[in-house]
Amino acid sequence: MKNIVILISGRGSNMEAVVRALDAEHWPARIAAVISNKPDAAGLAFAASRGIPTAVVANKAFATRAAFDAALQETIDRFAPDLVVLAGFMRILTAPFVEHYADRMLNIHPSLLPLFPGLHTHEAALAAGHAEHGATVHFVTPELDHGPVVAQARIPVHPGDTPDLLAQRLLTEEHKLYPYAIRLFVEDRLIIEQGDVRILEASSI
Ligand code: GRF
Repeated sequence: MKNIVILISGRGSNMEAVVRALDAEHWPARIAAVISNKPDAAGLAFAASRGIPTAVVANKAFATRAAFDAALQETIDRFAPDLVVLAGFMRILTAPFVEHYADRMLNIHPSLLPLFPGLHTHEAALAAGHAEHGATVHFVTPELDHGPVVAQARIPVHPGDTPDLLAQRLLTEEHKLYPYAIRLFVEDRLIIEQGDVRILEASSI
């Protein structure tokens, strides 16, 4: 049984999708905690309603990024995580923090990485005139929105699309993609080889 700790900053709809999939599909895992850097993150209420322990480590209370990351790490580690899941967690993390969770921290990013790291990805995809947009689940490495890619979801860009429309349509796909990728992790089906992810067939375990 693997322990998953999920970090959020806001709405938490990806966290919710993961919680629902884990319950419905009986993964060999449990959500050990949902932790937010924002006391008012909407997703905390959903987690609490499912009986999941919640915690807040407010970044505003810390003078430096390093101090915040140290406090966050201490809180996360109380829940003995096998996997840390960033789900709309809007903080840039320090290298020591990322290295502490090397090969056991995943992020979902709303673009087809390596395209458009950082913020405003829907605007960027539209501005580039791309016919396709998407989302990426990747292992977290010290460089922002880089790291071995586990899986991607693609959506077409339609004429007349706005950043909001794209974001909405992509979110529906994220809610399938992230549970899929996390389930692969908890089933020990992800192998990182020279910076690439290999997915083991279910039957080869
Ligand atoms: C998602 O679009 C995710 O890709 C990005 O932040 C957003 C979080 O949404 N990293 P939610 O909090 O999961 O609803």
